[in-house]
Amino acid sequence: MAVIAANVETYLHNKAFAAMKQDHQHIPESDRVDQTQKSGDDEGGNLEASMTPDLETRRLLLLPPIVADAEQIQRIFPQWEIVKYLGKVVPWPYPPDGAMTFLRDQMLPSMKRGDGWAWTIRLKAAPARIIGFISLHNREETHRGFWIVPEHQGQGLMTEACNAVTDFWFNTLNMLVLRVPKAVPNIGSRRISEKQGMRLLRTEERDFVSGRYTAEIWEITAKEWNARR
Ligand SMILES: CC(C)(COP(=O)(O)OP(=O)(O)OC[C@H]1O[C@@H](n2cnc3c(N)ncnc32)[C@H](O)[C@@H]1OP(=O)(O)O)[C@@H](O)C(=O)NCCC(=O)NCCS
Repeated sequence: MAVIAANVETYLHNKAFAAMKQDHQHIPESDRVDQTQKSGDDEGGNLEASMTPDLETRRLLLLPPIVADAEQIQRIFPQWEIVKYLGKVVPWPYPPDGAMTFLRDQMLPSMKRGDGWAWTIRLKAAPARIIGFISLHNREETHRGFWIVPEHQGQGLMTEACNAVTDFWFNTLNMLVLRVPKAVPNIGSRRISEKQGMRLLRTEERDFVSGRYTAEIWEITAKEWNARR
């Protein structure tokens, strides 16, 4: 709990510098990104992500994960409603150390290497509590992943997080294209692709936690993204 508080405190401290660093005039006010860099201290473990900035949207704080977040994530993530259309790579039934293993052995090392970027999603109104997760990956065709707890779905929150994170992908990391696979029955996730102006590239069969489905591969280029902002 103390570590979470420290992380939030770092955010609040850094926020004072956000205005100076803001360089995203083309983004609507509601989706503006706070480019303040994290201080990179070692609280919560030595695998603190140092290259992923805190992001801020109208209603959300997106804070890079730390090892200590595993406890909260372990409590909220293993729900059928969350995992059923995630890739089969997610272990199910979810093991008791699933969140810790994911953060400590996969996500944080990837962030350290510079080929992954991730954020815990928190409401500004209750910043100590994690309500979801969003990540970017510099690997073929699964560039972005996300989930949010059922009680906060359908409020436009993931669209808000996605807009900030997608803008980071194109305009901070300078990536040229974003591609994401979606299971066809995952209507909410596909709708986010549509709302972001993505194009359906092709379909293929893929394995998800709840079985094999047709997956749609959605794509948007940097040029297309910036043309609509
Ligand atoms: C997919 C997910 C992240 C969406 O998060 P969210 O915060 O509810 O998304 P938003 O509210 O920003 O947008 C969802 C859109 O889908 C629509 N939608 C959601 N479920 C729907 C359904 N069953 N039928 C029709 N539309 C639906 C919403 O109405 C909204 O569109 P709108 O803004 O045009 O009304 C969330 O449902 C989730 O975490 N699912 C489990 C994990 C997951 O599947 N992740 C994605 C893997 S690719």
